[in-house]
Amino acid sequence: MVAIEHADQHAGRTVVLRGWLYNLRESGKLLFPIFRDGTGVMQGVVSQKDYPDAFAALKGLTQESSVIVTGKVQAEPRAPGGYEIHISGIEVVQRVPESDPYPIQLKEHGVDFLLDRRHLWIRTPRQAAILRIRAEAVRAAHNFMDGQGYTLTEAPIFTPAACEGTTTLFEVNYIDDQKAYLTQSGQLYVEATAMALGKVYTFGPTFRAEKSKTRRHLTEFWMLEPEAAYAHLDDMTALGEGLVSAMVQSVVRNRARELQTLGRDVAKLAKIEPPFPRISYDEAVQALQNAGNPVKWGDDFGGDEETLLSKQFDKPVIIHRYPAAMKAFYMATDPVRPDLSLSFDMIAPEGFGEIIGGGERQASYETLLARIREAGLPEEAFQWYLDLRRYGSVPHAGFGLGLERTVAWICGTEHIREVIPFPRMLYRVYP
Ligand code: 4AD
Ligand code: MG
Repeated sequence: MVAIEHADQHAGRTVVLRGWLYNLRESGKLLFPIFRDGTGVMQGVVSQKDYPDAFAALKGLTQESSVIVTGKVQAEPRAPGGYEIHISGIEVVQRVPESDPYPIQLKEHGVDFLLDRRHLWIRTPRQAAILRIRAEAVRAAHNFMDGQGYTLTEAPIFTPAACEGTTTLFEVNYIDDQKAYLTQSGQLYVEATAMALGKVYTFGPTFRAEKSKTRRHLTEFWMLEPEAAYAHLDDMTALGEGLVSAMVQSVVRNRARELQTLGRDVAKLAKIEPPFPRISYDEAVQALQNAGNPVKWGDDFGGDEETLLSKQFDKPVIIHRYPAAMKAFYMATDPVRPDLSLSFDMIAPEGFGEIIGGGERQASYETLLARIREAGLPEEAFQWYLDLRRYGSVPHAGFGLGLERTVAWICGTEHIREVIPFPRMLYRVYP
């Protein structure tokens, strides 16, 4: 048994592949199938004269029928991947019936058609390549965080209160009419585990009832959230640029074939290493105004502003010290300029938008309580969080990295819905 991705190591040998028929071209007494096995695609050839049984089993075989193929691997520079298989035997495991053919043909389909069949769409080489790149990015992220001395401490998904504003909360009917919400961010919980373990992170699904139907929004997405005790804004911008660089470089090193399948410009990714440019919110507003954007000081940046700013750099750009009024209740304020928060966002290049948001947390009990009240949040639900300021409060900081936005940028995909196996969006929870 050989995986197609390792076919090059078996040139000249007879091997067995287990997979599916991806495509079949018939030309008289020769058949030219393309097989896929999950690790890649491989072209094959069989002649009626030499292997009549294999020829008969393959002739007319329907797309996505499952097959076990025996044959000799040979170098063929014109074939995708550089090798082809000279078939001597075929065992059909399941034949897709002609009466109910595989719905996704090798032609362009509309995206709604494909999303309705996401459970099948993921079989196409492009989609499979994206999911492999996602897995590689996740692996690299865990390795990097581990190497930096951060311990993985998972945050819960059922939560008693909002973290990122009440407008995007999903309410759940918890047991016996108790109210609970799907978590918007694990941050409040990693603040607790950071006080217990020092340097921690959580990585898991987070939920936002986003009414916006943009190419950057999902209702369920994955976030990696580091948090460190005795850490400040600058510690987190440095950690963020290191993390993002490690993820990108690991994909460039270990997923070159998949990047090629996607037609991604690898030269642009190869440049992604620290340091990343840093500009203050004040400077960003100035730069936008100079470029003719109507933004005013105090406005939040939307997709247009982010794209305009990111176009000025070939690496992700870190924007720091946003106006305090714009950011969440838990943000620390700048002691030099109390109208600013000690926050930062990281904006990906090429218009892929915000991939990280974070900063330093409000460490004072009195200020935090006042901000919870100002924000109209339920005080009872935050008593445990206020305990972190009652008992040994220290300066601390962290951030959240959106996995899908980061992977969409690495892959160069237009919409983040393609980089999660089963996307959840405004009007889509099927399949
Ligand atoms: O900027 P956000 O809202 O920050 C937080 O949730 C903080 N509590 C994180 C922290 O400091 N621990 O979200 C962080 C990142 C964004 O930069 C973005 O990449 C991603 O999460 N994100 C989304 N990704 C996909 N779909 C959505 N609806 C997203 N909302 C945020
Ligand atoms: Mg944000």
